[in-house]
Amino acid sequence: MNIGVIGLGIIGSRMAGHWIRAGHSVTGWNRTRPSAASSGLSIARSPREVADRSEMIMIVVADPSALDRVVTGADGVAAGPLAGKVVMNASTVGPSDNLRVDKAVRKAGGSFLEVPFTGSKAAAEAGKLTFFSGGEEDLVRRCEPILLQVGQKVVHFGPVGKGADAKLIFNLMVANLMEAMAEGFAFARKAGLDPARFLEAYRLNAGYSVLADMKTPKILSGDFSPHFSLKHMDKDVRLALERAAELHLDLPLTRRLKELFSEAMARGWGEEDFAVLYRQVAEKSGL
Ligand SMILES: NC(=O)c1ccc[n+]([C@@H]2O[C@H](COP(=O)([O-])OP(=O)(O)OC[C@H]3O[C@@H](n4cnc5c(N)ncnc54)[C@H](OP(=O)(O)O)[C@@H]3O)[C@@H](O)[C@H]2O)c1
Repeated sequence: MNIGVIGLGIIGSRMAGHWIRAGHSVTGWNRTRPSAASSGLSIARSPREVADRSEMIMIVVADPSALDRVVTGADGVAAGPLAGKVVMNASTVGPSDNLRVDKAVRKAGGSFLEVPFTGSKAAAEAGKLTFFSGGEEDLVRRCEPILLQVGQKVVHFGPVGKGADAKLIFNLMVANLMEAMAEGFAFARKAGLDPARFLEAYRLNAGYSVLADMKTPKILSGDFSPHFSLKHMDKDVRLALERAAELHLDLPLTRRLKELFSEAMARGWGEEDFAVLYRQVAEKSGL
């Protein structure tokens, strides 16, 4: 199949690599850094050219404004005819962003699916992402075999918008858990507990999670090279709060968390992994 990938960052470049290895003809586009792409990838000059050359187009860009730029921009995916083509968006955005894109894609004659996902750099590398789909169910089933070449599971939530809601909720929980771990590990260090012994016991504690597997090595080593950047998680917490406000839902812990994320962003740590929240607690505590 001819597959297009728009956005060749941490996740998009790895998706492209899996599809190339699975024998598809893959065309990619990236705003900058096209050389970061996997070998075997054909590079297009615009998102529109990606769409022209592909039957299925996957978008994995930073945020809502990047999504609008690659879909409804002058050289965007929806600038040309999309009849017979499927456009999927895996970027984390709000439900209203995906509904806007759905409308633009349909207007151009194509079909749209939202497929936000969970799983970070390592899961993308291993082809083990989990997708939360929103869209027509028969379209989801049609796209599932392709998604399962980069992922392990597709969980369908309903019409466009529902997958985005699920993703924002999951990230809100993960972000709060990250701050809790940051505070706990700083507390343990301040109290003089042996870090290795603390981690060994934590693994047996009810609060231990897959996130702890992923982020405790970063906390302990101080290496915050990004698997999932602070700037993206900051965006996700903002989107979750905006969506909660639409639903007249008060999230007091997440409101405070957003302030902590904004502080870390103001320190210039946006490109680092969001586990850098630990450094923020540690520095404030004189560690
Ligand atoms: N990494 C994870 O663990 C993870 C997990 C779940 C969900 N996500 C979501 O997946 C998406 C991609 O994440 P990532 O980690 O792959 O991010 P990333 O490495 O920062 O890549 C972001 C991509 O978006 C592009 N982009 C940014 N602004 C743009 C603009 N205005 N116009 C066009 N393209 C633009 C970037 O292009 P340049 O290279 O030119 O900057 C890059 O290709 C985000 O929505 C993120 O929240 C990521």
